[in-house]
Amino acid sequence: MLVDSFGRIATDLRVSLTDRCNLRCTYCMPAEGLEWLPKPEMLTDDEVVRLVRIGVERLGITEVRYTGGEPLLRRGLPDLVRRTVELSPRPQVSLTTNAIGLARLAEPLAAAGLDRVNVSLDTLDRGTFRTLSHRDRLPDVLAGLAAARDAGLLPVKVNTVLMRGINDHEAVPLLRWCLEQGFRLRFIEQMPLDAQHRWSRENMVTADEILTRLGAAFTLTPADAAERGSAPAELFLVDGGPATVGVIGSVTRPFCGACDRVRLTADGQVRNCLFATEESNLRDAMRAGASDAELADRWRAAVARKRAGHGIDDPSFLQPARPMSAIGG
Ligand code: GTP
Ligand code: 5AD
Ligand code: SF4
Repeated sequence: MLVDSFGRIATDLRVSLTDRCNLRCTYCMPAEGLEWLPKPEMLTDDEVVRLVRIGVERLGITEVRYTGGEPLLRRGLPDLVRRTVELSPRPQVSLTTNAIGLARLAEPLAAAGLDRVNVSLDTLDRGTFRTLSHRDRLPDVLAGLAAARDAGLLPVKVNTVLMRGINDHEAVPLLRWCLEQGFRLRFIEQMPLDAQHRWSRENMVTADEILTRLGAAFTLTPADAAERGSAPAELFLVDGGPATVGVIGSVTRPFCGACDRVRLTADGQVRNCLFATEESNLRDAMRAGASDAELADRWRAAVARKRAGHGIDDPSFLQPARPMSAIGG
């Protein structure tokens, strides 16, 4: 098991498969992109599968989420998914993606055993999408979302980061649209994980604000809190349900106390928290010949050192050196 000193158990492994992305969302990456990881530093498919297997067989990992950057940019993703679901005990396997390319890949991924997808979508307006992501790809995203639903990658969840003066007026239309389409929408508070360190508390649209905006158009009632478990989203029934909307208040309503996550970066470093200031290098240990048992020991030690929470409110808070694109959402 992966247990920390507060007694939290990590069962949810989030694996970043690449730090590259085909979008440049302002809260994540600069328009010119970043210096990408050199290929030799990145885990190969065999190395990814080996570490995930150790997680599943020896450390109690029950859920594997592939993230990025943009995981669909990783060649051979369906094969990686297939090898993951073949592990025993079979983990749940999901993907967090911007959906560009999913129109083509949803079927092969579903056939490989992928369970479900979470898709980032911040706007339904093509011009706003271009401003926000520096790319004119909204039609590809919408096609990808539809393909995911048609391929049965359910439930399809949509993640929206609201930004003041940019897309915060779209909260209600986005929810209407997701309800019509059968997607489960969650609004996310922006976190200080952007590459340019421009996050500011004033610009963050808070969970309270989101709920106020939605409350003007819908009747929201808290869904049963007992069902939330370690999920980051607080769920609300929309107009009596059964449809729900989620609010992920990472900053103002942190859920660190119930955290069950651990991360592996594309270059094989264990991060015990999104906001971790240290990493444990499993890649080099593996390449130096470490056994499965030794890698598992290192991994346990890394999780044991996990801090109580993200500490964004502490005066001494330091944003991690890696941006979200290199950590994995
Ligand atoms: P499921 O609920 O299992 O579908 O996944 P998820 O919501 O955890 O995954 P997803 O990758 O869709 O993440 C959604 C958002 O949750 C991210 O954009 C982050 O803002 C937030 N988030 C994910 N993991 C963490 C975490 O470990 N800590 C914090 N504070 N926020 C997180
Ligand atoms: N704060 C909150 N969420 C973020 N995401 C990317 N950067 C940030 C940030 N700074 C979200 C994306 C995606 C998920 C993986 O993380 O919108 O849905
Ligand atoms: Fe877990 Fe760290 Fe995220 Fe808090 S900020 S929920 S401790 S990963």
